[in-house]
Amino acid sequence: MIKIKLIKRIVDTKQWVKWLNDKEITKFSEQRLRKHTVKSQKKFLLGKIKSENSKLFQIFYNNLFVGLVELGFIDRFHKTCEVMYFLGNKSYWGKKIATTAVSLAVRYAFKNLGMLKVYAGTYGKNKSSQKVLKNNNFKLVGVMKNQFRLSKLSVKRDDKYIYEKIK
Ligand SMILES: CC(C)(COP(=O)(O)OP(=O)(O)OC[C@H]1O[C@@H](n2cnc3c(N)ncnc32)[C@H](O)[C@@H]1OP(=O)(O)O)[C@@H](O)C(=O)NCCC(=O)NCCS
Repeated sequence: MIKIKLIKRIVDTKQWVKWLNDKEITKFSEQRLRKHTVKSQKKFLLGKIKSENSKLFQIFYNNLFVGLVELGFIDRFHKTCEVMYFLGNKSYWGKKIATTAVSLAVRYAFKNLGMLKVYAGTYGKNKSSQKVLKNNNFKLVGVMKNQFRLSKLSVKRDDKYIYEKIK
């Protein structure tokens, strides 16, 4: 059973910090560029809870906290927002958890927030994340060539794939 729960107050961030410091999990995210601590994460979380432009949800699989999904950059004038997600518990990858969590978050965006469009961006190499979006009928609407640096030590770059789903 997969559920998402809106974060309204500070939750235990210990496990979450471990996930954010795991280079395999953050390989395709700018989170890989900083060191995360319980203190920094609590500060981040407080900002998100207060923010008008973000809704952050915990993802639960059979009542176990396994990841996060966020509706960010909520624009109430244009009625658009971005969906972002990660599954920190790697033993649960490949079980359609992110696909379901994204589906629930998108439904929340359309029904509860009145959004008309939800969009997402992935690294070109992040095929599993692209699959999550395709599973949710997001359409690829653009590719920004060589948008991302892959590492501090290499000149190799990756494209950014942009997807959207219209209500
Ligand atoms: C990307 C991520 C969210 C996927 O979560 P998940 O719960 O494993 O995703 P799902 O099981 O719902 O779907 C994954 C799909 O990708 C497929 N997949 C996995 N690795 C793949 C690869 N290398 N190439 C192509 N497809 C791949 C799976 O087979 C599955 O396809 P299916 O729906 O046809 O079975 C998770 O791996 C993760 O958190 N990664 C690190 C953080 C991240 O990349 N976040 C997204 C940033 S845009």
